[in-house]
Amino acid sequence: MTRIVYVNGRYVPHHEAAVHIEDRGYQFADGVYEVIAVRRGRLVDENGHLDRLNHSLSELRIGWPLSRRALKFILREVIRRNRLNGDGMVYLQVTRGVAPRSHAFPDHHESALVVTARRLRFLQGDGVDVITIPDIRWKRCDIKSISLLPNVLGKQQAKDSGASEAWMVDSGGQVTEGTLSNAWIVTERGELITRDVSRAILNGITRQAVLRLATGAEIAFSERPFTVNEAKAAREAFITGTTVLVTPVVRIDGEPVGNGRTGKFTAKLLAFYARHMDNQGKET
Ligand SMILES: Cc1ncc(COP(=O)(O)O)c(C=O)c1O
Repeated sequence: MTRIVYVNGRYVPHHEAAVHIEDRGYQFADGVYEVIAVRRGRLVDENGHLDRLNHSLSELRIGWPLSRRALKFILREVIRRNRLNGDGMVYLQVTRGVAPRSHAFPDHHESALVVTARRLRFLQGDGVDVITIPDIRWKRCDIKSISLLPNVLGKQQAKDSGASEAWMVDSGGQVTEGTLSNAWIVTERGELITRDVSRAILNGITRQAVLRLATGAEIAFSERPFTVNEAKAAREAFITGTTVLVTPVVRIDGEPVGNGRTGKFTAKLLAFYARHMDNQGKET
């Protein structure tokens, strides 16, 4: 079956889809994106993703390409036209649109919108290795910008080392986050920790859901930075993200975390999160 994508007002076959060479996303990475999980054909935490899209767009003064309601319709239409009734993801990207190449914003712009969807089988509970690398990103990591070179390089470094993810570390030795996920640990004393929200990290929609689920289950947590050494001495570690859900981290820089297997907090939070995904569809 031909994949169908949405590009600037039209639904077109994937292999025919194209954007202009002077799209500012292409020339300046002047754009933002969201990845939304699809569980059994339904969008997971759609409103959270659209709220964050709004944050990214407004911080960069990029206009919404169309109304939130129209965007919701398009997301569903792309899912429907691709017969995505199982698990998968929707990718949406908004750029400042097409303009003659010049760094400053054009006087007027028409935001460009691309939406794609694809099937995906979510990983379920297998532990992964992470490496630690310096965080070389800009100081606005709260914006989900399409400018992802440090993340691309970090993820490739992880792959080259036989690991799945790289945890980026700030100049103070504290872990910020992964290249496409948020970082968590459970200390020896059983304290669940993830870094507090600031411009140093992306406030993951999965992160927010897991914190709500932990609150609901009366699991104590603390939002604060943690060091690489603290992570290596932790009882458990895991990552959260739209495509990785809640994935246990069993080794950091080759050293086992705890007993080197999925921990019980992690397994519990993954089970809660899987149920949360299954309960989607009530959002409109
Ligand atoms: C740098 C970074 N941090 C965290 C996340 C996790 O965010 P979310 O849970 O919204 O997918 C992502 C997701 O792509 C990311 O790119």
